[in-house]
This record gives sequence, structure tokens and C-alpha cells, in this order.
Amino acid sequence: MNSRKVLLKKCNHCGKVVEEIVNSFNDTICCGEAMEKITCNEVDTSNASHIPTYEILEGKIRVILNHEIDEEHYIMWIKLVYKNEEKTFFFKPGEEIDAIGHYEPGMKIYVYCNLHGLWIREVV
Ligand SMILES: [Fe+2]
Repeated sequence: MNSRKVLLKKCNHCGKVVEEIVNSFNDTICCGEAMEKITCNEVDTSNASHIPTYEILEGKIRVILNHEIDEEHYIMWIKLVYKNEEKTFFFKPGEEIDAIGHYEPGMKIYVYCNLHGLWIREVV
């Protein structure tokens, strides 16, 4: 069994972002319209770095991400997704990006930037 795929949707009117824990074929409605699926990016084509690297030491994984942390542009959260659990780290502007969890082969690291959306790194 693989780790779960994170599915986010955004309202193009009010900016609300929701996560679908259980996916269906029905639209998610906000402000009277269907919310738009947020594409999960795997290749960073912008100047900033959104695809994290990581280091594994003694059964733990530490996420390494060189990204702005200022008020206008910052990482809102990092989620470590395992086969049977998830761990989310939330950040505010100005906070150092620091995310450590246990290492599991095949786990995924999701990164959400307030300007550039959702990114993924699969861990081998
Ligand atoms: Fe960004």
C-alpha cells in the first residue's frame, strides 16, 4: 500500500483552500462555483526552490528547503505522508523551515508555498 495522495482544491473567488480526505467525483462548491483542483508540481521551474531535499540519520528524516520566509512569500506547511499516518508542520512568515519525522521508504514530502502552491518529493 502506497502513501496517500494529497488533493487540494482552491476557490478562485475567496481564495479558500481545502483538502479532500476522501475523493469523490462530485464538485466541491465554494462561492457558488466548483473549486479548482490544485496541481501538484514535481519540477521547480521558478527561481525559488520548492522541491525539498532531505537527510536521513538514525531512522529520522529532516527536510531541507531553501525558500523565502518573508511576509509576502513563504512556506505555509510541509506534510510528511506515510503509509498509515501523516505529520504536518505549519509555518508563519519569518519562521525557519524545520520538519523532522521518522523515515519510511516510499514516504512523500508535500510542500505548500503561499504563492506557488503544492509541491511533492517522493522519498526513496
Ligand atoms: Fe514559493
